[in-house]
Amino acid sequence: MKEQLQALQKEALDKIQTVEGSQGLQDVKVAYLGKKGSLTGILRGMGKLSAEERPVVGEIANQVRQAITEAIEEKQDQLEQVAMEQKLAKEAIDVTLPGRPVNVGGKHLLTQMIEDIEDLFIGMGFEVREGPEVETDYFNFEALNLPKDHPARDMQDSFYITNELLLRTHTSPVQARTMREYEGQKPVKMICPGKVYRRDTDDATHSHQFTQIEGLYVDKNVRMSDLKGVLDTFAKHMFGEDRDIRLRPSFFPFTEPSVEMDISCKMCDGKGCSVCKQSGWIEILGAGMVHPKVLEMAGYDPSVYTGFAFGMGPDRIAMLKYGISDIRHFYINDKRFLTQYHQA
Ligand code: DAH
Repeated sequence: MKEQLQALQKEALDKIQTVEGSQGLQDVKVAYLGKKGSLTGILRGMGKLSAEERPVVGEIANQVRQAITEAIEEKQDQLEQVAMEQKLAKEAIDVTLPGRPVNVGGKHLLTQMIEDIEDLFIGMGFEVREGPEVETDYFNFEALNLPKDHPARDMQDSFYITNELLLRTHTSPVQARTMREYEGQKPVKMICPGKVYRRDTDDATHSHQFTQIEGLYVDKNVRMSDLKGVLDTFAKHMFGEDRDIRLRPSFFPFTEPSVEMDISCKMCDGKGCSVCKQSGWIEILGAGMVHPKVLEMAGYDPSVYTGFAFGMGPDRIAMLKYGISDIRHFYINDKRFLTQYHQA
């Protein structure tokens, strides 16, 4: 029996050495130490031994059980260790790998321009307002002193939706909307950036959809010199302290007098070059003193209130500022163009 036990121990230890995986080890454990296992089987025969032999064999049996148990535990530890190493190897992160670049979007150049202009005017006490892109004929034209058959409507070819609804051709309707909201009672000082639409054929300087920023200041005693001061501040902020402005007589139905503002050409310092068509000046925006009829239609008494208004195109301003030769660059969304202007 003694030999039987020792043979069993050897056989078990050999198996434990070579077994693979913890399930295999578990099977070995059951096969030797389990209720129906080999060791238990041998021990069952102990009843047949003499009283002297029994404790001796009993001790050996205990040693064998101990040896097998320890070998199993050791093997179990080994298996766990191996499993852990394999897991770590599989999950290993190469910290020396260079990171994958993260693609971060950026603000469109026109958005940047508009936000910059908004900041400047907010600093001068203007509020920023919005208006609908689908506008009524009344606000787009009539409330701005452009009655139905007015020839100046031809200045802005329009996308009509119905007889009374169109895509706004400029941001000027927001003037009339704001004054109406203020009911002729309080001063108005607002700008309104937004998209506008014209039935133009797209080319380097025309787009059927572009952006404008409208400005309006109505109060008692607003004078043309106030307009000039605000526009000068704007021009210097946008194009540099060394720029001069000039106001040229012009015509808009909603202002009287009307002007166009030019800035001195940066390329030639006002001497005349191809950029400014030899004039030394570049046209930037339209402006003027709000026409009394426009004030009146919106509920403001023109003998009490006066005001100035202006309308500018961020597209054109960005083109001049950055030397962009084609307005379509803003709208065809070529990332090679757009990302040049992304700010970190
Ligand atoms: N609405 C004009 C346009 O789209 C721009 C403009 C000119 C706006 C003079 C004004 C202004 O408010 O006073 O061509």
